[in-house]
Amino acid sequence: MENLIGKKALITGGGKGLGKATAIAFAQEGMDVAITGRNEKNLQEVVAELTALGVHATYEVFDITDLQGVTQGIENILSTFGTIDVLVNNAGIASFGTFLDMDPATWLSILNTNVIGTYNVTKVVLPHLVAKNQGDIINVSSTAGLNGAATTSAYSASKFAVIGLSDSLMREVRKYNIRVCTLMPSTIASDMSIELGLTDGNEDTVLQPADFAELIVANLKLPRRALLKTASLWSTNPS
Ligand SMILES: NC(=O)c1ccc[n+]([C@@H]2O[C@H](COP(=O)([O-])OP(=O)(O)OC[C@H]3O[C@@H](n4cnc5c(N)ncnc54)[C@H](OP(=O)(O)O)[C@@H]3O)[C@@H](O)[C@H]2O)c1
Repeated sequence: MENLIGKKALITGGGKGLGKATAIAFAQEGMDVAITGRNEKNLQEVVAELTALGVHATYEVFDITDLQGVTQGIENILSTFGTIDVLVNNAGIASFGTFLDMDPATWLSILNTNVIGTYNVTKVVLPHLVAKNQGDIINVSSTAGLNGAATTSAYSASKFAVIGLSDSLMREVRKYNIRVCTLMPSTIASDMSIELGLTDGNEDTVLQPADFAELIVANLKLPRRALLKTASLWSTNPS
């Protein structure tokens, strides 16, 4: 089992939801954590929680669709942490509507955030992992990236694309001992899923962000010779 103490992680969208739960789970394992997002107040509050757990934590504010901002923000994290061992491409947005009803700007912003955002952050972090000849990248897709549904054309197109990007990258960089894992969770209680009306978030039956974080930690603890390529996490009996 891999020891995670002292590893440096970068989690996009770490100010709330799945990203925040992952940041806390990493800190509980003794990992130093950098979180990013656009809402600075959320990031500050989570960094305070992480620091209280006794690890180094920092944040950077940038929009993942802006490659220049991403580049500067990641340079700042690298100058604070010295290195990055684990990248979690978690930040994403969702909006549902019929193909004809959804306006083109919304459709494009979902693709831009979920696909180009993942591309931008990976493009900047990957050279550091290749130079170290080691690393982990976890890309967050969705069950909506496995199957379409009426009203999810934009979100499903984006999450199908994340799977294609991530699967290709895994095949390309495992020769550098970089493990790329694609996660495809079903509905998890978060602002996103509750605001979309997908779940009431019932803790007794519905997946919680901490469950998702537990899966990521278990993945990272696998011996380095082992690579979890994909995983799909579901609620056992949500209804
Ligand atoms: N919850 C679910 O049921 C579910 C299921 C399957 C997959 N997922 C995926 O899991 C990931 C996290 O979802 P969640 O449920 O935790 O959603 P959430 O609570 O809405 O959080 C989304 C996070 O992404 C960040 N973000 C969004 N757009 C950004 C941008 N342009 N630049 C920088 N950061 C951005 C937000 O940060 P700021 O607000 O600070 O910008 C926020 O921290 C997403 O990729 C989502 O598609 C979620």
